[in-house]
Amino acid sequence: MALEAAAVRSRAAELLAAHWDSERGHTYPNLTTYPHQWLWDSCFASICWAAVGRPDNGLRELTNAMSSQFADGFVPHIRYAGNGSGRGPRSDVSSYTQPPIHAHAARVLSADLALPADLLGRISAGLQWLWTKRRTPDGLLYVVHPWETGVDDSPRWDSWASDFLGIADWREVRWTRESFTRLDLYLVDETIFDEQGEAVGSRVFACAPAAFNALAAHAAAEYAALSGEREWERRAVELAQCIDAHMWNPGAGLWSDVPIVGGGEDRHVPTLDGVLPALVTADAERAGRALDQLRDPLRFAAPFGLAVVARDHPACDPAGYWRGGAWMQMNYLARLAALRWGRTEIAAEIAAMSVAAVERTQFAEYWNIETGEGLGAIPLTWSALVAAMLD
Ligand code: GLC
Repeated sequence: MALEAAAVRSRAAELLAAHWDSERGHTYPNLTTYPHQWLWDSCFASICWAAVGRPDNGLRELTNAMSSQFADGFVPHIRYAGNGSGRGPRSDVSSYTQPPIHAHAARVLSADLALPADLLGRISAGLQWLWTKRRTPDGLLYVVHPWETGVDDSPRWDSWASDFLGIADWREVRWTRESFTRLDLYLVDETIFDEQGEAVGSRVFACAPAAFNALAAHAAAEYAALSGEREWERRAVELAQCIDAHMWNPGAGLWSDVPIVGGGEDRHVPTLDGVLPALVTADAERAGRALDQLRDPLRFAAPFGLAVVARDHPACDPAGYWRGGAWMQMNYLARLAALRWGRTEIAAEIAAMSVAAVERTQFAEYWNIETGEGLGAIPLTWSALVAAMLD
């Protein structure tokens, strides 16, 4: 590795400190582009704090990320710093949620400090909300807006965009962030909110995403390990079985989303999300097939990987926002999946690519997988996750 581990850690620590709001007790993803608190960003940031030797800040960050939880357990995906808008009827928080990384973040922090009972209670209530309010009859969890996956502009959403924009041959279209912003706002208009402003459904979009389900099953297992509550262990196993029963795509060797309302024709576009059920499946052969693709240059391995869309698919745009470029938190999650199966060689490769990327991109939000050019908001706080990938 070009940069020494100690140098990576100290640059990550500087990045965290530069984005830390000591009064509110959390980092901002970026001070100008993202001046609020995002849920999964803060969960990842708390892991970063632990990696740079400040688990105390990590605990504050995670606690604050969970602090706007509604009485029914719903955890908003954004806590606005000042007035916000555009993500549902409320001006204090978003009406949507994001992948429940909180349980894993808490598990990481628990190596260094004792977790308050209140935080554990909030994590369990957050998971309970997903299991109560967002389950299909098949037992999968669904989202009602792409924002809830964190993977905002994935080609997997294109067919919904084509419905809205009335484009028959959407696979020929070069989607831009502008066209996706129009889709996002249309999907907000079509969301059904309850009286407290929580997203409970959508007239046009609902989907059970492979990665969201995998991360929720993983969260259930992490929470069970923290609390000793066997019921969550059972639910983790049950959800992993549902993922295998309904999402495995043998042609691609990946897991695919299951569309619930509208769209879904592009559910099989091979994305890194489709590897993440390797975090929870009990099927070693499937996990192996998916994880092998992290090393395959035709699929997700790239000079500056991991690609979030397989390189041999026409939708892959090496510099595209969620359409091919690489993201640090996805590298972190893919590495976690590789480590679960003892694939230390893959984990080491991902760590090396991640170190090369932060050096080249100055901790960018995402980067071009071919050239390593930094893209989006630079820097972005969760790119400090590279510090959590050093052995
Ligand atoms: C973008 C990303 C989302 C992230 C947010 C803040 O919206 O798509 O995953 O949480 O930025 O970094």
